[in-house]
Amino acid sequence: MKQFKNLLFENQDGLGILTMNRPAALNALNKETMDELCELLTAIKEDPAIKVVILTGAEKSFVAGADIKEMLPMTAAEGQAWGRLGQTVFNMIENLPQPVIAAINGFALGGGCELAMSCDIRIASDKAKFGQPEVTLGIIPGFCGTQRLPRLVGKGVAKELTYTGDMIDAQEALRIGLVNKVTTPEELLPTAKAMAGRIMQRGQFAVQMAKVAINTGMNTDMETGSVLEASLFGVTCATEDKKEGMTAFVEKRKPAFPGK
Ligand code: CAA
Repeated sequence: MKQFKNLLFENQDGLGILTMNRPAALNALNKETMDELCELLTAIKEDPAIKVVILTGAEKSFVAGADIKEMLPMTAAEGQAWGRLGQTVFNMIENLPQPVIAAINGFALGGGCELAMSCDIRIASDKAKFGQPEVTLGIIPGFCGTQRLPRLVGKGVAKELTYTGDMIDAQEALRIGLVNKVTTPEELLPTAKAMAGRIMQRGQFAVQMAKVAINTGMNTDMETGSVLEASLFGVTCATEDKKEGMTAFVEKRKPAFPGK
């Protein structure tokens, strides 16, 4: 795969490890990084050999937000276009066929917290710090933070974090439901890889359909989501993975999913 300036990517036997790698700016998201992310995500989406992705940050930060130095001279129209670009790229992550696990190693602030929230599952090191500090800069979250944060932690807590701009630690992020698990820094990647490994042992098509059902269902009403779920359930019933999974159960052995 192509080399990028601000991203690292490695395919470890079907597990993609994507590292935000602009440590001199605490991995802040500038336009160049966003464009690279867009290109890399398109390649990942089209690569069926990649089953699960782990997204993490190089050195002491996950991502310390959108690049403040680049945003300083932005006009209203430029700011709007920047917001739409970030939203588009983060929606690509949310809608990637493969599950994405954020392994949050350090600062996840502003656009960094929004990036983590676009992933399916969040595991944090106990050194991680979270927040939406945009109002401390006189702006509001622009990469869907006002939309994903209340959906994840509820409207009241989302408003408190967004209005105060306060930073919270990993334990508080766990308490409010912003992250799924907290580990030591040493255990962060091993924990994420172990979880990815368990997901990779399942029927991949079924995992992907579950992602579509949850994501689409959460953006619609219960009845429409239920109709979609039944349809996708029906689709999974016609796969070779289902035949193998159920036959293996009956034969009291582990399934060897063909992946179709
Ligand atoms: N944009 C640009 N550069 C950044 C950055 C950012 N978001 N965050 C850190 N950096 C740079 C710093 O400017 C500094 O560079 P120089 O050495 O060239 O000055 C370098 O990274 C290291 O940062 P610090 O010296 O500040 O490191 P620290 O350990 O003392 O502090 C920090 C760490 C608390 C995270 C602090 O860097 C900070 O507050 N960063 C900004 C966090 C923030 O406000 N993020 C939200 C951005 S707005 C946004 O994301 C909008 C949106 O939703 C679209």
